[in-house]
Amino acid sequence: MNAIEFGSNLLARLNPRVAGAVERSLKRVPFVRAKLDEEYDKMLAGMDPQLHPYRSTVPAQRRLPAAGRPRDEILREMRELAGLEEPRWRDGFVSGGVYQGDAGHVAFLNEISALNSQANPLHADLWPSITKYEADIVSMTAAMLGAGSPGAERVCGVVSSGGTESIMLAMKTYRDRARAERRISRPEVVAPVSAHPAFDKAAQSFGIRMIRVPVGPDYRADVPAMKARVGRNTIAMVGSAPGFPHGVIDPILELSEVARRRGIGFHTDACLGGFVLPWARKLGYPVPEFDFRLPGVTSMSADTHKFGYAAKGTSVVLYRTPELRRHQYFVSTDWPGGLYCSPSFAGSRPGALIAACWAAMVACGEEGYLDATKRILETATEIKRGISELADVSVFGDPLFVIAFGSETVDIYRVLDHMAHRGWALIGLQKPPAVHLCVTLRHTQPGVAARFLSDLRASLDEVKATPKEKGGMAPMYGLANTVPFRGVVGDLLKKYLDLLYEP
Ligand SMILES: Cc1ncc(COP(=O)(O)O)c(C=O)c1O
Repeated sequence: MNAIEFGSNLLARLNPRVAGAVERSLKRVPFVRAKLDEEYDKMLAGMDPQLHPYRSTVPAQRRLPAAGRPRDEILREMRELAGLEEPRWRDGFVSGGVYQGDAGHVAFLNEISALNSQANPLHADLWPSITKYEADIVSMTAAMLGAGSPGAERVCGVVSSGGTESIMLAMKTYRDRARAERRISRPEVVAPVSAHPAFDKAAQSFGIRMIRVPVGPDYRADVPAMKARVGRNTIAMVGSAPGFPHGVIDPILELSEVARRRGIGFHTDACLGGFVLPWARKLGYPVPEFDFRLPGVTSMSADTHKFGYAAKGTSVVLYRTPELRRHQYFVSTDWPGGLYCSPSFAGSRPGALIAACWAAMVACGEEGYLDATKRILETATEIKRGISELADVSVFGDPLFVIAFGSETVDIYRVLDHMAHRGWALIGLQKPPAVHLCVTLRHTQPGVAARFLSDLRASLDEVKATPKEKGGMAPMYGLANTVPFRGVVGDLLKKYLDLLYEP
């Protein structure tokens, strides 16, 4: 038992607020601080080789080369590294991550990016083509998500750099609207615990109090519990379609009605589902309403760089009205550099990514998305069925394509480790411990679902056969899941980030 485990066991019975205060005081004691640092370093040392696999073969570039290196040499080196990393995602070993990845599709997007590599929509006068592409992306996404239905005739939006930026933009927008229209100076947002950490990032960044509400036994947002937390300072409520951890769709209709009756905003986070659910519904899968067809939904996020099959680095944030979107904009009128305005957080933005996103969407078309969704959902059904036939694991909730599973009989984090030894990059969940696979087009290739299931079976057998086995990531996941000191876990994560920047 290490020092952190020992301390955790000792204080696990305290109420979390007291435990938090004890933790903060303890961390100020130099001996405890030093002991914690020692434990962090020990835990992270095991990860170092995995995070820096090229250390011995490709020297770190610690400063600019005195003279520029030849282009062909640079290309050769970078091709080699990309080539080493490609098979894992290409062959469908990764949860989420790469959502399309077909060689022809990737080559097409690369060609479009190359064509537009110098473009920047900040200079709308120089690249009106990018401005047009962005407006088209917003319109196409909005039309897919209920724009044009009664009461949703004016849906509008902006292209951002990813799901996190879309969510942060929406939260900033609600804060600024509440400040301007309701004089709310201590804004609050009510969200289920399952909603993405991007909401906490927004809260931390914009001085919003994030109220996280436990989910129900089906892992979906608990409507009465969320309603009970709405107060005078609430600026918006949140639901996911679906949520990242368990892939289940929150009761958006009921939640958004609570918000509508209270006259506050409601954000549907469809970063994962925006480009899947409309097609799933067309295919006859049971998909509850989640978009602008619901009068209470006032904003949405939908990620083009996930199931929109664009290159990495784009997402769409949508608003019911242009008046709401205007609270997102930034303008500066007195800068000596001239009049300045920008729609999102970035100033300059990569026109190449917007162009590639537009190209991905129009190249896919409705038929392309429908066909992709059909293949993904059929594969997910096969995997869910296979998991349900295994004695030691069970699927959480009733998901469509993000399949979380846990176990009452084996340590699921050790199963995660054994799957990793077989090449799988799955996601470890916590509270409760579980593992998930987000099914993408990569998994629809012949034999991938069967390989996943046979590897899972073999991993379960190995874990059961070696109950005393130590090592791997399982202890770290286990610790992170049970330790009451969330500050300690947070410190560990910051150390992990430091480690990434080590040469
Ligand atoms: C439901 C949901 N929302 C938001 C995000 C954040 O997206 P990004 O990683 O593009 O910032 C994710 C990412 O997986 C997600 O699954």
